[in-house]
Amino acid sequence: MSAASAAEAAALHQRPGTLQLGALPPLSLYVHLPWCLRKCPYCDFNSHEKAGEIPEAGYLDALRADLEASLPLVWGRRVHSVFIGGGTPSLFSPEGIDRLIGDIRARMPLEPGAEITLEANPGTFERERFRAYRGAGVTRLSIGVQSFDDALLQRIGRVHDAAQAHAAVAEAREAFDTFNIDLMYALPGQTLQALAADLDAALGHAPPHLSIYHLTIEPNTVFALRPPVLPDDDLASDMLDLVTARAGAAGLQRYEVSAFARPGHRCAHNLNYWQFGDYLGIGAGAHGKLSFAHRVLRQVRWREPAAYMRQALAGAAVSNEHEVARRDLPFEFMLNALRLREGFELSRFSERTGLPTSAVQAALAAAEDRGMIEVVGAGGVVRPTARGFDFLSDLQTLFLPPDSGAAGRPGGRC
Ligand SMILES: C[S@@+](CC[C@H](N)C(=O)[O-])C[C@H]1O[C@@H](n2cnc3c(N)ncnc32)[C@H](O)[C@@H]1O
Ligand code: SF4
Repeated sequence: MSAASAAEAAALHQRPGTLQLGALPPLSLYVHLPWCLRKCPYCDFNSHEKAGEIPEAGYLDALRADLEASLPLVWGRRVHSVFIGGGTPSLFSPEGIDRLIGDIRARMPLEPGAEITLEANPGTFERERFRAYRGAGVTRLSIGVQSFDDALLQRIGRVHDAAQAHAAVAEAREAFDTFNIDLMYALPGQTLQALAADLDAALGHAPPHLSIYHLTIEPNTVFALRPPVLPDDDLASDMLDLVTARAGAAGLQRYEVSAFARPGHRCAHNLNYWQFGDYLGIGAGAHGKLSFAHRVLRQVRWREPAAYMRQALAGAAVSNEHEVARRDLPFEFMLNALRLREGFELSRFSERTGLPTSAVQAALAAAEDRGMIEVVGAGGVVRPTARGFDFLSDLQTLFLPPDSGAAGRPGGRC
């Protein structure tokens, strides 16, 4: 799509349609930086082992062109958060990140005090570098630690050791007002005691935010090809109980399936995803969701970095774009909103999907009958129960279109 045809597309998206969105949701910006030092054997993200130098300047040019071509689709809207994810964004120089944030600020109005998160890998840790990201305008660091146990880190193919992880987190604590630690559990050969030690190590840094994910074996990864021996379901479930109890005791509330935060430190960017807000996604393979008065649009960018750069510079970064079908919106909304411990107001469903609440009444009644949700208060807040949280994909599946046959895959890592 050229810049001119993006403007045409924007006009096209304003035409009458079957949805009625009263107001547009908050808008976030996701920027994908796709290179890593080495590909981890469990990882199915669009990340590529770097061979030689990263083409930093060329990639930043491509991002700027992508952003410019996208502006007609988000005209007049303020950006409420920015997430620079990967890949390993901390492979980019602080000067490069400074330029990126400057390019964004020059083109899109950011809400005052907007959260700007950058993902960092302890394998790229250098004291001055982390501070310089702060100077470039990053307000929050998300550190991919995964484990503080050297043997486990080796088993999952990480490029860093525990000492580097500790140093990176200590520096994030010094240099930033808020930060996140990413951990994974149910790792190959991990015991409950080993997880307890990992949690002690993480919580010892008093993180304002902790994301902890059950290791999943994704198709087309090295682990899918050569599966390691993993803790069984019972042990994994005990592990999650341990995580929740330890994090809670340390003052971190579980506000989403995998996310724990101290008051005032929830991730604004991820909350916007879970509340079915909008996001423009730029960069190789980035996904986006944009709402208009009568439709919701999904976009994907070219996945392979060199192809993305070429296409973005030619004004055609988007490889695939489609309008979300009316029948798919209830499931897409629930895939996100039911991940939140506090649930959502029923009116939010209509606000964000443009559909009447009658579209989900039958499924909500079925979920309530099975004890998976509760509907509370005058405003009709829909909240997953403990049982619903434990069997989240079963709960979400209730909102699939009647004849779809397929069980959905709950998303969530970012
Ligand atoms: C997009 S990744 C980027 C983080 C960064 N590249 C790193 O790994 O240090 C975000 C998080 O997803 C989690 N993750 C990645 N692959 C996973 C998998 N197969 N199963 C569970 N969690 C995974 C990890 O905790 C990771 O930190
Ligand atoms: S898990 Fe993170 S560091 Fe490892 S390959 Fe994936 S994106 Fe890169």
